[in-house]
Amino acid sequence: MRKKVVFGRSVLGAAAVIAAALTVGYAPLGIGGETKDASEMDMALLGGTTTIFRTSREAFSAPASNLDSKSVRTFMFGRHLFRRNWIIAPASVEDLDGLGPLFNRVSCSGCHFKDGRGEPPEKQDALMKSMLVRLSIPGESPVGGPNPHPVYGDQLNDRAILGVPKEGRAAITYEERAGTYGDGTPYSLRYPTVDVVDLGYGPLGDDVMISPRVAPAVIGMGLLEAIPEKTLRDLADPDDADGDGISGRVNMVWDEAAQKRVPGRLGWKSNQPTVRQQIAGAFLGDMGLTTSLFGTQNCGETQTECQSAPNGGEPEVDDTRMDALELYIQTLAVPARRDLDDPVAQHGEQLFTDIGCGACHTPTLKTGEHQVAALSDQTIHPYSDLLVHNMGEELGDGRPDFEAQGDEWRTAPLWGIGLVPTVNGHRYFLHDGRARGFAEAILWHGGEAEKSREAFRTLSAEDRDALVRFLETL
Ligand code: HEC
Ligand code: HEC
Repeated sequence: MRKKVVFGRSVLGAAAVIAAALTVGYAPLGIGGETKDASEMDMALLGGTTTIFRTSREAFSAPASNLDSKSVRTFMFGRHLFRRNWIIAPASVEDLDGLGPLFNRVSCSGCHFKDGRGEPPEKQDALMKSMLVRLSIPGESPVGGPNPHPVYGDQLNDRAILGVPKEGRAAITYEERAGTYGDGTPYSLRYPTVDVVDLGYGPLGDDVMISPRVAPAVIGMGLLEAIPEKTLRDLADPDDADGDGISGRVNMVWDEAAQKRVPGRLGWKSNQPTVRQQIAGAFLGDMGLTTSLFGTQNCGETQTECQSAPNGGEPEVDDTRMDALELYIQTLAVPARRDLDDPVAQHGEQLFTDIGCGACHTPTLKTGEHQVAALSDQTIHPYSDLLVHNMGEELGDGRPDFEAQGDEWRTAPLWGIGLVPTVNGHRYFLHDGRARGFAEAILWHGGEAEKSREAFRTLSAEDRDALVRFLETL
């Protein structure tokens, strides 16, 4: 049985979007032949009425389909800011300078290429292009977050402006380990080890904790922001009261603007509360640009060249630009699901439910009120509960991030995941891109997901393929 949509929704809304899809000739939805029931159409609209119908390399780059035209203009300005290269201060174009002193990339899209997902470097001695490494030492920051390294801060900056030493470079090596499916078919997983080399400011010390993370796709962010806190609390089961082996916790993190702890939603450990704070954090940590939210440059104790480098204004990115970029990220649309008629994918969807994937990758949620009206009251299919789950030691990074422990990660939203090969030209999944394809991503699941992983591992080859086929339609 197809899983029924659990929340009441405006069927009219769905019908209107389907009609729009038909007028632009969107075939992959598979509508037009037999009549679909409302819930089936609904499952295609992964982002509710914000959903767009694109399967091209630009599939992650469109504004929400229900966004008003004034907001679309702001969105276009935000896109410009997301894609442009920031420059070193002082520069003649004053409001676009301030890059560094220490940084990782010169633009947001350097890591989130085509608003999509990053990947680990192909070669061990190459610089990371769309990935970064978080650092900390034992203890907590004053707001309960990771305790930054006194010299290197909370992120390794592998690039710097002229005259300022770079912090160093992360090098990943892999070891292949063989495994077998229940039917005897062999597979191999690559176990990563991360080393930080070419250190610019002395040794990191033995107690440093390192967390390599690839840039996730940035679609549907405002919808995730709009899920009511109560929904997250209802989904959470910290003590596994229902005894299904799956707990799931809200990661309470510091909200700098609100000056209080709120549920985390963004980042691989749900370590950021809002789109705006995520962006301000990225400007500072990834590009060395200050904002009104984070106004102090991130130079460590002994990084004197960093401390004395010229800045590009205070703050370097003003609030008008922050507003535009915030709206841009909030309203980047989720593309519709494809091939709903494919019986293999339908079977895979059934298996997804049967073997417990949906216990964490929650198929259907409803948004509440959001400052952007287009995002309010939407029935969405993120395939995530935004909670952090224990995923086992092998997937862990040993680095706590607010209340998320070293082996806990946010259930990765699966919407749009089938289009990653088209948009970004690769199939590297999980927080550090260690998995080469969907099957490997599932085989890495441990901890609370071990039962589900074992169910997958012992499926027939045909059923495993069907489950993967389903993921490809998302
Ligand atoms: C050096 C690479 C890099 C750059 C540059 C970068 N990001 Fe990111 N971005 C990441 C990584 C890695 C994460 C995951 C962070 C984590 O888990 O803590 C992330 C997370 C995000 C998220 C949350 C995604 C999710 O699924 O929760 C958003 C939104 C985002 N970045 C926007 C931006 C914006 C806007 C900029 C430019 C101001 C930017 N990023 C620059 C690497 C980068
Ligand atoms: C206990 C909760 C849980 C269960 C059960 C679970 N997952 Fe996950 N899943 C996660 C978490 C957490 C991550 C992120 C892990 C990471 O990046 O290290 C994830 C990641 C993934 C990814 C990679 C996503 C990405 O963006 O890289 C895929 C694909 C996936 N899961 C599919 C499945 C399938 C299929 C099943 C059922 C066989 C399943 N999951 C069961 C929690 C779960």
